[in-house]
Amino acid sequence: MNHHKRPLVIGNWKMNLDYVEALHLGQQLGVLMKNKPVEHTDVVLAPPFVDLRSVTSIVESERIPVDIAAQHVNAHDNGAHTGEISVSMLKRLNVKWILIGHSERRAMYAMSDDVVSATLRSVTRAGVQAVLCVGEAAEVREAHEHEAHIAAQLASALEGLDEKARELVSIAYEPIWAIGTGQTATSEEVSAMMAHIRSVLAHLSCGGARVLYGGSVNADNAPSLVLEGNVDGFLVGGASLKAESFMSIVQSCDDCYDGKR
Ligand code: 13P
Repeated sequence: MNHHKRPLVIGNWKMNLDYVEALHLGQQLGVLMKNKPVEHTDVVLAPPFVDLRSVTSIVESERIPVDIAAQHVNAHDNGAHTGEISVSMLKRLNVKWILIGHSERRAMYAMSDDVVSATLRSVTRAGVQAVLCVGEAAEVREAHEHEAHIAAQLASALEGLDEKARELVSIAYEPIWAIGTGQTATSEEVSAMMAHIRSVLAHLSCGGARVLYGGSVNADNAPSLVLEGNVDGFLVGGASLKAESFMSIVQSCDDCYDGKR
């Protein structure tokens, strides 16, 4: 782990848990965090839109030390965009983070690099923290084009951002072949990509951004990914739906930062 940056762990619940189930998971996380406080790690939950209100209210009333994220947002301020949600609506719900350009949005809902870039601008203009998601498909890695692919995704989204906006950006590297497949990238692959992303970020004047790994992270593989993968934290899908496994991943980051491992 890069010990200079405070670790960040985000649970992306994707399209899982209705608002009653979400409340239940929020409560369970609150109990675990009370029993074993997290000292060094920023913990963020990204529930579906319709759960945001119930999760923020339980987090506030029980004083659970987590921030709330949205999984996606529309780049426009308001208007005729049936079915969409704006940044100001999310801010009103006390949402502090927004995931942008998750590979599932890019692949299944035609989110282009241009839309990712516009969304990033709209989120940071509003002063909300942005998690830019990047990642390559298996064919791209097999063709040894993964580094160029990631550099292009980063440049397309980040080039020309002003300084204030750049301070609000974190990056999540999620290789598509590792998402939901149980096929986690190895610590060597993660570590090499972390180094590549950090050098691209430095060229884009974004060297302060935290860089997370996502893709089949679980309680068992998190400790070695933290120790050897040189990550600043994780974006967790499936394993964030169970309070114990999510908190165990958070604890791996916390212990490593603390020098306990
Ligand atoms: P899994 O942890 O389920 O592989 O999902 C990763 C992810 O896409 C998080 O955004």
